[in-house]
Amino acid sequence: MKLKDWFKTNSTIFSDTDLRYLLKNFFTSNYFLLLEQETNIDPEKLIRLEEIKQAYVKGVPLAYILGKEEFLGWEFKVNNNVLIPRKETELIAEKSIEIIKNNCLKTILDLCCGSGNIAISIKNTLGLGPIIFSSDLSIKALNVAKLNKDLHKSDIHLINSDLLKGFKYKSFDLIVSNPPYVETGFINESLKHEPDTALYAGKEGLFFINRILNQAYLYLKDKSFLILEFGYKHKGWVEEFINKTKVYKIVEWIKDYSGHFRGVILRLEPE
Ligand SMILES: C[S@@+](CC[C@H](N)C(=O)[O-])C[C@H]1O[C@@H](n2cnc3c(N)ncnc32)[C@H](O)[C@@H]1O
Repeated sequence: MKLKDWFKTNSTIFSDTDLRYLLKNFFTSNYFLLLEQETNIDPEKLIRLEEIKQAYVKGVPLAYILGKEEFLGWEFKVNNNVLIPRKETELIAEKSIEIIKNNCLKTILDLCCGSGNIAISIKNTLGLGPIIFSSDLSIKALNVAKLNKDLHKSDIHLINSDLLKGFKYKSFDLIVSNPPYVETGFINESLKHEPDTALYAGKEGLFFINRILNQAYLYLKDKSFLILEFGYKHKGWVEEFINKTKVYKIVEWIKDYSGHFRGVILRLEPE
């Protein structure tokens, strides 16, 4: 079968982004040249593509089928024990990198690390500079983070901890976290394959965000930073929680690509 014909038949089955990612993975990033050149698909590749399609039409996310996802241009191994890294989280990681670099920060924690995508991207970008810890409650998630640590030869420290319990007070110059923040009970086709422990966070989805805001300042050194991702409905509540603690100054609200407020940069500055 010609690649061109397979592409035509399947262009309505896969989303545009997924189809491009699939072809890039199976052929080359110049797959469009192969389409024009009327290239035939190897029978083995065709069998695998059809298997992938079968899983995909059942709703399994392409990242889990392929066992990998891109984050800030790097490849990360994923399986159904970790959240699939999201585009909006790239913005959180980029802001973290900028702040660490501009302020020469030394000790960093990626709290609720999942696949380790945030911590490893920081390390990949900044190299030897900062010492980076990456923690999660789920051992299964940490096993995936370990695969990614090895894949990237990344000198990060993986820690099993319920939020900050495993750490000493005043340890960090920056804590970055993309915690679970989906309202418990919210069911969506695209989320149903991802682990509940990576998603759900109580009635309004604020259980972890509130806990982190109420604990993180104890583990941060003076004048250090907390960067948090949250859901698109959460800004008002998050602002209220921040003000209640009386210990953080808001440095910046972070918007996602659709213009929704999805994160905040805080600096420890007790009144
Ligand atoms: C939304 S995922 C984020 C994963 C990754 N940081 C990312 O941005 O793609 C949240 C992670 O928090 C972890 N988690 C849930 N409850 C936790 C807790 N009490 N303490 C530490 N980690 C927890 C989950 O296992 C999951 O890996």
